[in-house]
Amino acid sequence: MHIVITGGAGFIASHLAELLLADGVRVTAIDDLSTGALKNIEHLRSNPNFKLVIEDAANETVLDHLVRDADVLYHLAAAVGVRLIVEDPVHTIETNILATETALKAASRYGVRMFLASTSEVYGKSSAMPFREDTDMVLGPTMNSRWCYACSKAIDEILALAYRRKRGLPLVIGRFFNTVGPRQTGQYGMVVPRLVEQALAGDPITVYGDGEQTRCFCHVSDVVNAIYRLVLEPKAEGRIFNIGSDHEVTINQLAETVKAVTGSPSDIVHIPYEKAYEKGFEDMRARQPDISAIKEAVGFEVTRDLEEIIRDVADYFKRE
Ligand SMILES: NC(=O)c1ccc[n+]([C@@H]2O[C@H](COP(=O)([O-])OP(=O)(O)OC[C@H]3O[C@@H](n4cnc5c(N)ncnc54)[C@H](O)[C@@H]3O)[C@@H](O)[C@H]2O)c1
Repeated sequence: MHIVITGGAGFIASHLAELLLADGVRVTAIDDLSTGALKNIEHLRSNPNFKLVIEDAANETVLDHLVRDADVLYHLAAAVGVRLIVEDPVHTIETNILATETALKAASRYGVRMFLASTSEVYGKSSAMPFREDTDMVLGPTMNSRWCYACSKAIDEILALAYRRKRGLPLVIGRFFNTVGPRQTGQYGMVVPRLVEQALAGDPITVYGDGEQTRCFCHVSDVVNAIYRLVLEPKAEGRIFNIGSDHEVTINQLAETVKAVTGSPSDIVHIPYEKAYEKGFEDMRARQPDISAIKEAVGFEVTRDLEEIIRDVADYFKRE
């Protein structure tokens, strides 16, 4: 098998590439290194089955050439991270929509099976917990730039389903909930690496808002195992799946666990959203998936708890 991964030097993609290579699959990663990094895939580059192309995934000529010879296309390239999104909505919208359209065109031209990485953000502010794949989207007003990520990913999903209907594209869509593990950077607003780095440095552990908002954190190894199996599973074809843990924790509990696991002397401090991001910033109070569909389709299981995840992330930063 030959598998192409867009965003291949990114956090999740680097773990996926590792899994595929271990299974004897030939992997081509394409990445423009905007938020990804060569160090994420350095250990893979001596493997003859791995190839990296440094390029924008929206480059039609290059992507067409790679996908023509592929069995599966994982489309993971995107502008990601709350900080990046709030600071650069033009880049977010252009990246997320143009690169996805290019990927859809190439995959449907050659009938290549495609996995589209979407996000729990598409549920927005909905309080219909736990979110099922057919739960309504509830987004805030367009003048709040935070929603550009959810909107662009929702358009990606709608476009992908339209390509499937119109051009017979074999497709699976995965909505990732908070995915964490080694190689994720805190630079663009991801909470776990940000708090762990602060704890290890002895800096204040900064919780945004009152910290009573909840999230569900899943180790990246569980997520990449799931998406490998999903793409090969005939009954998953044409469907959307929530992917993540359904175990909720508050961000205050997360901060306490980070402090305990790392043995950090740091204080936990609260920072208003307006100071952390921008005036009028809206956050979701909770975000919990219903994961019965993915359990039923590929026997998905969450194998690592929060303490194990934090220990793994902390070990990574210490090695770094
Ligand atoms: N990590 C999470 O918790 C999470 C949650 C929901 C959805 N997702 C989705 O999962 C995917 C992977 O995210 P990640 O967390 O690994 O983030 P990441 O930033 O590490 O990965 C994205 C990769 O895409 C690359 N990229 C961006 N624009 C590109 C372009 N135009 N051409 C080529 N490469 C480009 C970046 O350089 C980076 O390597 C994204 O689609 C993201 O929206 C992630």
